[in-house]
Amino acid sequence: MYNALMKKFLIKNCALLLKQGDITKEKVDAIVNAANSMLAGGGGVDGAIHEAGGPMIEEECRKIREMQGGCPAGEAVITPGGKLLAKYVIHTVGPVWQGGNAGEEELLRSSYRNSLLLAVKSGLYFVSLPSISTGSYGYPVDQAARVALTEVTGFLNKVRPYKLRQVSFVLFSEDILNIYRTVLEDIVVRSNFQP
Ligand code: APR
Repeated sequence: MYNALMKKFLIKNCALLLKQGDITKEKVDAIVNAANSMLAGGGGVDGAIHEAGGPMIEEECRKIREMQGGCPAGEAVITPGGKLLAKYVIHTVGPVWQGGNAGEEELLRSSYRNSLLLAVKSGLYFVSLPSISTGSYGYPVDQAARVALTEVTGFLNKVRPYKLRQVSFVLFSEDILNIYRTVLEDIVVRSNFQP
């Protein structure tokens, strides 16, 4: 069931929400960070999360860097949320857009899939996602939205019910929210009318 006003979509007891906002303000089990492979912090959502979460997040990222050298594109790691309202931060590294023929789509799918897998493994129920790779990494938003939403809806259709209660895309601008909403409505219409 898709509620266009609320921009909410139910998949097997899990609510999929689209909202405009600042992901650092989310009071959820985990927010997902669009990080870089060195987990070194940066600008965009990475900078905002490190800024709002405080030095503990960088310290935890440093420990992971020492332990495993960082985080490859498409993979995800988890740290405490520090001073954030969210309990945890799941750091994932999306692909840098190189025109679309360098495996970017599969890496973007992996980023979303591995972030949600890590949330489920960590026993988390409420997760908020940004629009990964669509800022500094240059992934065209309309293409990234379709990849993100097909991957996340596919994941929620497969994962055991009640493993996740709510997954929100927190989009930084109304324009990006509208792109995600249009894509989600298209996916819903197509899936409802599949023969
Ligand atoms: N809340 C939600 N979304 C945000 C926020 C925020 N506070 N700040 C930025 N965004 C949005 C951007 O508008 C964009 O749509 O997050 C999306 C991803 O943009 P980036 O943060 O630039 O991430 P990405 O494109 O994946 O590039 C990652 O940028 O900041 C560096 O260290 C980071 O090297 C990494 C690269």
